[in-house]
Amino acid sequence: MVVVKTIKEVRDTVKQWRKEGLTVGFVPTMGYLHEGHQSLIRAAGENDRVVVSIFLNPMQFGPTEDLATYPKDIERDKQKCLEAGADLIFAPEVSEMYEDNFQSYVDMNLLTEELCGLTRPCHFRGVCTVVTKLFNIVKPDKAYFGKKDAQQLAVIKRMVADLNMDIEIVGCPIIREEDGLAKSSRNTYLNADERKAALVLSKAVKKAEELTENGVRNSAEIISAMTSIVEAEPLAKIDYIKIVSLDTMQQISSTEGGALIAMAVYIGKTRLIDNFFYEGE
Ligand code: PAF
Repeated sequence: MVVVKTIKEVRDTVKQWRKEGLTVGFVPTMGYLHEGHQSLIRAAGENDRVVVSIFLNPMQFGPTEDLATYPKDIERDKQKCLEAGADLIFAPEVSEMYEDNFQSYVDMNLLTEELCGLTRPCHFRGVCTVVTKLFNIVKPDKAYFGKKDAQQLAVIKRMVADLNMDIEIVGCPIIREEDGLAKSSRNTYLNADERKAALVLSKAVKKAEELTENGVRNSAEIISAMTSIVEAEPLAKIDYIKIVSLDTMQQISSTEGGALIAMAVYIGKTRLIDNFFYEGE
């Protein structure tokens, strides 16, 4: 496994692989990798070569968010990449990705308006811009994203279709701790009490799944059951619990035909997300 810091090194390596007729899978990350990221790297192993980027993208953080405290440990990340079968890590400095006079952005309407887009107004512009840049640098055949960031996955799929990017986007299942908490680099912020309290997210998601399995389709009923679970936990504060269309990410009153049931909850100061994709019958 090779670790490089410059765009040129990535391009030269990938060009060489292409000459050899090899396919390339790509997993973009912000580092502090966990089993969720490793599952994406393993899934990308269906290609001949796997590139992982580790770049804490300042553009997708708002001024009051956790850019400065976001956990970092590149040596640990290298180990996790190696274990999962990555061939190349691209770990650029901010100056490599954004020149001083950087002026161009990729933005999206509609799909970014609800859910995390409401609480984090510039977030998806930062995500779309950096992912476009990374796609242009790596030029992969396929790129892998976790379903935990469900809105991000929908946004990236839309962007790739809208902008005719010749890349297949693969959504991979949420990886959970044994007790149900969805794996996240931000789980490291939680103290022992908060860690216990954080279980309300997966409990609420499970409830939504159960209700859906039992034929409940009314969004308000599902949201109300999830809300009761979260509100029973004093350390939890709901940012949103919403049910949206899989295509538009706009709120819908019934899950008939498929829906994303998504939530963001503050546990103390830590904002966590979780969700359930109902694909419809
Ligand atoms: O999901 C993430 O970790 C980030 O949003 C991504 C896709 C790596 C872009 O910075």
